Amino acid sequence: MQKILIMLDNKFLKHLKKKSKLSNFVFDKRDLEKLIKYSLESSKNKDFINFFYDPYLLKIFNFALRRRLSHEPISQIIGFRNFWKSVFYVDNHVLDPRPETELIIEKVLELPSKNLSLLDLGTGSGCLAISIALERPHFQINASDICIDAIKIAKLNAKKYNTRINFIKSDWFDNIIGNFDIIVCNPPYISKNEYMKLSLGIRRFEPKIALYGGLKGLDSYRKIINNIFCYLKPNGLAFLEIGYNQKKDICKLFKDYGFDKIEFFKDLTGKYRIVCVKKDAI
Ligand SMILES: C[S@@+](CC[C@H](N)C(=O)[O-])C[C@H]1O[C@@H](n2cnc3c(N)ncnc32)[C@H](O)[C@@H]1O
Repeated sequence: MQKILIMLDNKFLKHLKKKSKLSNFVFDKRDLEKLIKYSLESSKNKDFINFFYDPYLLKIFNFALRRRLSHEPISQIIGFRNFWKSVFYVDNHVLDPRPETELIIEKVLELPSKNLSLLDLGTGSGCLAISIALERPHFQINASDICIDAIKIAKLNAKKYNTRINFIKSDWFDNIIGNFDIIVCNPPYISKNEYMKLSLGIRRFEPKIALYGGLKGLDSYRKIINNIFCYLKPNGLAFLEIGYNQKKDICKLFKDYGFDKIEFFKDLTGKYRIVCVKKDAI
């Protein structure tokens, strides 16, 4: 890989810089490495030395490069993204799993490891449900999403890791039956203003339904909080991701819906990113 990067320095980087400038794009060297690795893996020719002499390999690489220069996320080009301890298939129907969401897994793993039932609402790639299933194989895990194409990706990921998860197509709780010891959810919580400020790559290629939470980013929260009590077992816990600046609003929302014991957890950068509520606190 080192060799290729040196060759790229000499042969390619000037050209790349020019192209990047034209498309208003800041190219990351690590992205370049990933694209080279992806091209080599997609080609029969696995030999770094021949990289620039294999027309098929160069075609794959150039196509991937063009996609990146049009701001497509690297994970969608190469088709996967690392999350927690696994590698998940992703495409343009699912949100790229983000590192801050791993905090929900940490919190679930702190609970006593009994036979518990869990619902992952808005599962997307299935990254939360599957990561928890791998850590706690005895849990009964359900995962839902409104988007059937997202569920297809989540099912592929569940199959890849041989996890048993019951997938349900549902508009939040509409098709959910029963109640659960744990509900986890990373809902769309980006406000209108914040959405406009997101990078072009995110706005162009990641599903808006996975990100946009209405004017103040709280629309999905309202719908979820309105129902969550009925779907939790006694002593049941819900862990939800929140925007870095939403603690106050979310706290008020839960209080308005009668919740009393509301706890917030910080991520590694010191921002409150997870809210936890307990059913019996009402
Ligand atoms: C922020 S993404 C989270 C995806 C995944 N859980 C993760 O953490 O990477 C929100 C997910 O909620 C789903 N979603 C949006 N509106 C929904 C609704 N009304 N009912 C159910 N799921 C919904 C989206 O399709 C998307 O997969």
